[in-house]
Amino acid sequence: MSTQLEIATELIKNEDVVAFPTETVYGLGARIDSRKAVEKIFTTKQRPFFDPLIVHVASIQQAQECTTDFNPLVQVLAEKFWPGPLTLVIPKSEKISDVITSGLQDVGIRFPNHPIALQLIQAVGVPIAAPSANKFGRTSPTTAQHVRHEFGDAVFVMDGEPSQIGIESTVLAVKSISDEKKYQLCILRKGFVTRSQIDELLKPLSFNYSWVDHLDKKSSPGNMKHHYMPSVPFVICRNTAMKLSELNTILNSRLSQLPDQVEGVTLIKPKGQINKIEFLKLPTDPVLAARELYSLLRLASLRSPQVLCFIQLPSQIGEMWESVFDRLYKAASLILD
Ligand code: TXA
Ligand code: MG
Repeated sequence: MSTQLEIATELIKNEDVVAFPTETVYGLGARIDSRKAVEKIFTTKQRPFFDPLIVHVASIQQAQECTTDFNPLVQVLAEKFWPGPLTLVIPKSEKISDVITSGLQDVGIRFPNHPIALQLIQAVGVPIAAPSANKFGRTSPTTAQHVRHEFGDAVFVMDGEPSQIGIESTVLAVKSISDEKKYQLCILRKGFVTRSQIDELLKPLSFNYSWVDHLDKKSSPGNMKHHYMPSVPFVICRNTAMKLSELNTILNSRLSQLPDQVEGVTLIKPKGQINKIEFLKLPTDPVLAARELYSLLRLASLRSPQVLCFIQLPSQIGEMWESVFDRLYKAASLILD
């Protein structure tokens, strides 16, 4: 009998897609050198073609082949954070097609820290383009079971342990302004690797760099306002003094006003009086909260509540919580103060 690695390798070599574990979330991968295979990622996920894919490599050398600007600052970041949850957005080489980058000149590259992902990339011998293995706009998967629930038999899933980090990689764009020998850095998506960690690495070195909030309008087309949405309305309440009866009254009046669809994702709005609220509770440690976030969101939705609710606590502050809240706010259909 073939191993799952042999089956997955064969499928990818034959231009099909396969789901595989990484330390952040499970990915839905295809070889980067087949347009047909890469297009199958978009159709399987029902993802619009304007949302670019991250290219996964298994060595620094493979990363260098995907870009025309593996500059000294990128080198330092790669040596420190790879393999790991950091995606670097840098100028693409001719190996990277426009379908992968949605027509942009830059490509997102990541060297994942997961043995199964690395074995797969090495066995195929070509980098693998992979978004998170969920339908477009929905919650990312952190277990093989989540992926099966998402795609059924349509996708071969490589089994691994639950993803240790639990939220997607930090996406960092690095722009080198070569005439001035300086760099601009921009975090396009928050994640486990934080801006302070990057500063801590770069400050003592002699790089001339600055942080910017935006590079240009088109630089992160996939960064939508809504994302990770469960199918029932998800409400964030920032008023910790609000009584349950008050919350009920507000939900009864406000939820019916929500749209039926948000950025292409269908919402199942409650019918009649609301009496089944499910509360999402996260661990107090933000690293654990990140690890369990998507599983807990899915579990809470599976109990079929009319509405899902999260009470945000004043103690939940700091960069790691910011990465968690980035996801929670994109999943929310209503925010109450
Ligand atoms: O942890 C992760 O990054 C996971 C695992 C599977 O590696 N992947 C992942 O991919 O989260 P995805 O497609 O769900 O999110 C990738 C996001 C895009 O939506 C886009 O915002 C940004 O990364 N991105 C990718 N390539 C880009 C590029 N060339 N320029 C700007 N943003 C890019
Ligand atoms: Mg995703």
